[in-house]
Amino acid sequence: MQLTKEEQEMLDGKYGNAVKSSMNILVSLGEIFGAKRLIDVASVQIAGVSYHNLGDAGLDYLADLAKDGKVRVLTTLNPAGMDMENWKALGIPEDFADKQIKVIEAFKKMGVVTTCTCTPYFIGNVPHYGQNVSWAESSAVCYANSVLGLKTNREGGPSALASALTGKTPEFGMHLDENRQAEVIVNVDAGMETITDFGALGYVIGKKIGKKIALIRGIEKASVEQLKSFCASIATYGGTALFHMEGITPNKTTVPKDSVDVSQPELDKAKEEMNDGEEPDIYAIGCPHLSLKEVEDIAKRLEGKKVKKEMWICVARPIKRTAEQMGYIKTIEDSGAKIACDTCMVVAPIKGRFKCLATDSAKGCFYGRGKNSFKVVFREIPELIEEATK
Ligand code: F3S
Repeated sequence: MQLTKEEQEMLDGKYGNAVKSSMNILVSLGEIFGAKRLIDVASVQIAGVSYHNLGDAGLDYLADLAKDGKVRVLTTLNPAGMDMENWKALGIPEDFADKQIKVIEAFKKMGVVTTCTCTPYFIGNVPHYGQNVSWAESSAVCYANSVLGLKTNREGGPSALASALTGKTPEFGMHLDENRQAEVIVNVDAGMETITDFGALGYVIGKKIGKKIALIRGIEKASVEQLKSFCASIATYGGTALFHMEGITPNKTTVPKDSVDVSQPELDKAKEEMNDGEEPDIYAIGCPHLSLKEVEDIAKRLEGKKVKKEMWICVARPIKRTAEQMGYIKTIEDSGAKIACDTCMVVAPIKGRFKCLATDSAKGCFYGRGKNSFKVVFREIPELIEEATK
C-alpha cells in the first residue's frame, strides 16, 4: 500500500504509540482487502462501547491507547451498557457501573464525544454528501451510506477507533463507487405507512437478498424515522451496508437486471414472525435511538396516563436535553416511563430480568431474542403505549 510521508511517520511511531498501533491496524486491514492507499475521513462513530462486550481486556486496551492517543476528527460513541447519569434507576449493578464509567473515561481522555448513541446523525455527526467516514454500528452505517450519501465500510470497534486516532481509513469496499452500485431491483407492492411497516420491509428484503445492494422501487415517501427503522432492520436481517430507494435516497446507481418482488402478505407474515404471543413485562421504544419528533409524539400519547409496566424510552442525551426544554421529558417521566440515555434494551445487561420485550423495532426483536433470550412482541408505538397504560 502506498503511504504518504506523514502516514509512514505515523506507522514508524513519530506520533506516539496510540497512532502507531492504530496505523498498524489500518495498514493490515488495507493489505488484506487490497486497498491501494489510505484516505482522510470526515468523522468516526465507534461501537463496542458496552463493558458487557469489552470486558477487562477491552478496558485495558482502551486505557493503554488513552495514554497518548487523541482523536483527529469528530468522533462519537455507540450506546454503552447503561445510562451514564441515571443507571441506578434502570437497575444496573454497581460493579458493572464502575467498569463502564472507566471505559467512558478512557474515550473522553482521547477526545471522543462521550454521549453514547446509535443515531449520531441526530446529534451533529453529519458530514456532507459524498464524504468518506469511518462508522461502526450496522444501522448507522446503513443510514450513512444510503440516506446521507456518505461512504463508509461497516467498521469494527478497533478499526473505527484507529481511524479516529489517525483521521484515516484504507480505501476499499464502500469507499469505491464501483462497489456502491445496485445489484438487484426490489419492487415493493405494499402499503408503507408506519414504522413497523418499514421494519417489516427491512426484515423481508434482508432475508430475501442478504448483503446484496438493492434498488428499491414502489415507495412514494418515507420519513427520517421510517428510514432509520428500515436501515436498522435491513442491516440486521440482511447484513447490508447500502441500499438505494428510488426518489428518496440521494446516491446515483446503475440499474441491475435481476429483480425480486415484495408483497403485502409477505410484510404481514414478517410481522407475525416477530410476535411470540406472550405477555410483555418490558416495553422499550427507541431502537435506534429516537428523534426529537418521536419523543414529542410519545410525550403527547403519555400525557395524563400512568404506565403499569416497565417502560424504557431510549434516546441520545442531547435530544433528551432539548426535549426537556420543551417539557416532553417531564410528561414522560410523570407517566412512570423511564428515559434511558446512552444505552438501550439490547446493550444494557438486563438478560434474566425480563421475559418478554414489546417494541416497535424489528432490530430490537432480533437482538431481544438472540442476545437476551427474551420473547418478543412487535407493535406500533401507539399500540405499545395503549397496552402499557391500560
Ligand atoms: Fe441502537 Fe441498541 Fe438498537 S444500539 S440500534 S438502540 S440495539
